[in-house]
Amino acid sequence: MSISEPGPHYRNFFSHYKSGLIYLNHASVSPLPLATYGAMEKYLRERTFGSVENFEIWLQTVEETRKNIAALVHAERSDQITLTGNTSDGLSAVAEGFPWQAGDQILLNTMEFPANIQPFRALARKGVELVYLEPQDGKITPEMIEEAITPQTRMLSISAVQYLNGFKADLKTIGEICGARDIYFIVDGIQAVGAVPIHVTEYGIDALSSGGHKWLMSPAGTGFLYLSDPLAEQLQPYKTGWQSVKDPWQLSNFEQDWKTVSSHLETGMLNTSGFIGMNESIKMLLNIGIQHIRKTILDTSGYAIGKLREQSHVQIISPLQDSYRSGIVTFQISGDTDPEELVSALRKKNISVSSREGMIRISIHFYNTRTEIDTALATLFNL
Ligand SMILES: Cc1ncc(COP(=O)(O)O)c(C=O)c1O
Repeated sequence: MSISEPGPHYRNFFSHYKSGLIYLNHASVSPLPLATYGAMEKYLRERTFGSVENFEIWLQTVEETRKNIAALVHAERSDQITLTGNTSDGLSAVAEGFPWQAGDQILLNTMEFPANIQPFRALARKGVELVYLEPQDGKITPEMIEEAITPQTRMLSISAVQYLNGFKADLKTIGEICGARDIYFIVDGIQAVGAVPIHVTEYGIDALSSGGHKWLMSPAGTGFLYLSDPLAEQLQPYKTGWQSVKDPWQLSNFEQDWKTVSSHLETGMLNTSGFIGMNESIKMLLNIGIQHIRKTILDTSGYAIGKLREQSHVQIISPLQDSYRSGIVTFQISGDTDPEELVSALRKKNISVSSREGMIRISIHFYNTRTEIDTALATLFNL
């Protein structure tokens, strides 16, 4: 079977396309797999019509989710994974918990999604300086990072894949640079995890934060934060609650030790139904294999790039070299066509893509087919 045509097996994991919807918007939000819906429905049924107090058994499933996330990102232990509500939660915990000194610098870049900027911008009150790299040809290379490091650089934060042009960073080399210079290496993973292999230990990542609703195909309001041991030891309690202490069920004992930072950030009751759903989605992705998913996505997005290149009035914004590519393909159409109007017109024809910053962004997951790309692009160019 050609990897470019996922075949009935992968298609059978989903249902949304059966109504004729061509969904090419996974960088925004993904459809849920049927198994995810089934597990969440079972939980909701029990809470609604069944034994109600079923949280013990469901908390076990939540722990399984943590283990599966650890396997997905190759963490050494599952207790390095904190369950969060979204990407911003995890990045805020790192930004706010770190023992900054006035004059410390953090390296960022100007093409980031603001979730990877605002938690650090809020540190101005502590005298932390944000240093922005300007991308060149839509890329931030390890060389650019190396040149920008100063004795004051304490941290670097970058998206594994950029939301706008889909540029995939060379995390391994960046991790080596950060490791050699004692700089904490923070990664916003939401546009990559589930679609791109991420190996936190091999890449020397200190914090990886991701929401679940994009490439992980999980419910909204689920996310996780991986912390390396050296960074976890540095972080101070930032967000706490009754579950943040060593023995939360000693309810009247207020003066307890904190749990380690990874678990004290889980301050109280978790989004149980959400993480039950996330567990099913991650199991599906792990079973298919992230390397295989990556190949499939590169193949189908490469096909889309080929088709776009046939159009003389289209300018592709996404980097084209394989090592920099992802499932995000962004382009501009010359003339006075308004991308927002084109995207709304496509929606009316049951084709979902996005417009961002004056560009059109399609984002392809492993189960999309070349036929869907053909139909979507033919429709777009005949609007
Ligand atoms: C790179 C990136 N980070 C973060 C987010 C979202 O952050 P959160 O999970 O906090 O909503 C997005 C998109 O919504 C994104 O593209």
